[in-house]
Amino acid sequence: MAKYRIAWLPGDGIGVDVLEATKIVLDRIALDAEYIHGDIGWEFWRTEGDALPQRTLDMMKETDCAFFGAITSKGKDVADKELLPELQGKGYSYRSPIVRMRQLLDLYICLRPCKAYPGNPLNYRDNIDLVVFRENTEGMYIGVEFERVPEEFYAVKAMSKVPRDAALSLRAITPGGSERIVRAAFEFARKNGRRKVTAVHKANVLRMTDGVFMDAFRKVRAEYPDIATDDANIDAMGMWLLKNPLSYDVIVTTNLFGDIISDLCAQMVGGLGFGCSGNIGATYAVFEPTHGSAPKYAGQYKVNPLASILAAKMMLDWLGETDRAAQIEGAVAAVLAEGAVRTYDMGGSASTLDMARAVAEKL
Ligand code: IPM
Ligand code: MG
Repeated sequence: MAKYRIAWLPGDGIGVDVLEATKIVLDRIALDAEYIHGDIGWEFWRTEGDALPQRTLDMMKETDCAFFGAITSKGKDVADKELLPELQGKGYSYRSPIVRMRQLLDLYICLRPCKAYPGNPLNYRDNIDLVVFRENTEGMYIGVEFERVPEEFYAVKAMSKVPRDAALSLRAITPGGSERIVRAAFEFARKNGRRKVTAVHKANVLRMTDGVFMDAFRKVRAEYPDIATDDANIDAMGMWLLKNPLSYDVIVTTNLFGDIISDLCAQMVGGLGFGCSGNIGATYAVFEPTHGSAPKYAGQYKVNPLASILAAKMMLDWLGETDRAAQIEGAVAAVLAEGAVRTYDMGGSASTLDMARAVAEKL
């Protein structure tokens, strides 16, 4: 029996291309693993009314972790129309599989390292090395939304200023949810010799919810006097990051702000082709390239697989295969430093699989 069982979830579009590429690297490094394919994606929404079928969730329960590609998602009107006629009008509603996995499996950490590898022509500045800790289960992602404010809400006095025809999305921030993500960020900082943790919020406007988040930040930071801290509003943070990217190190924030700021950070180190992500809970994790399914490039083997290959490196770290993880990162760094093999985003003409083979050859 293999040492590890890994749920393998390519999904849609270029998710399939980049996972094939990633497999080349994992095979070369001889990870003792069994990869179990799982159904996930648009096709299963269309034909079964569920993009993440229960059988896939059941299969995942029998594995150590999962590796996920990308999913196509479309607006509600299109999604509903593409559902098979016999499923329409039966109350099916599309929900993002990755958001569901994060919540169902309590993968409360969204870890997004953003590092400027020397030789990457897309780096915004040399030496950027940021790590984003995004809370991954609550905040604006709880999925409590109303097309119209329910009448009974007006029993609460503060609601009287909200127009009757407003749509409403609720943001929930708990002390426990905040504390565990903040603690994860500080633990990471301490273990990895990082100098500073920055909390990102909008506590001047979202006084209650980000008040709770910042209380947790202040409480936890007292336990880590060896690590410097600061905090910034999300809007200012966008400016500061572009102005002084080297002043930041570990960033911790709530779900939606983390979604936004992690794209900004990824763009500073090469963009979609480099953004990798780990959705990590106490006992299970799902690793993924941060990019989407890019339907227009599907099956063309054109896109950069390094985001996915770096996500595999994160998976190996999480599994405790730290030597293999370091080898993969070293191989990626070597290919980028040489600059001979570049995908189209970097101005080159290497295919997805060329890039993966170039990385594999360095192993
Ligand atoms: C991400 C993505 C997802 C999110 C989408 C696909 C639901 O943008 O992983 O950052 O919003 O979290
Ligand atoms: Mg995002």
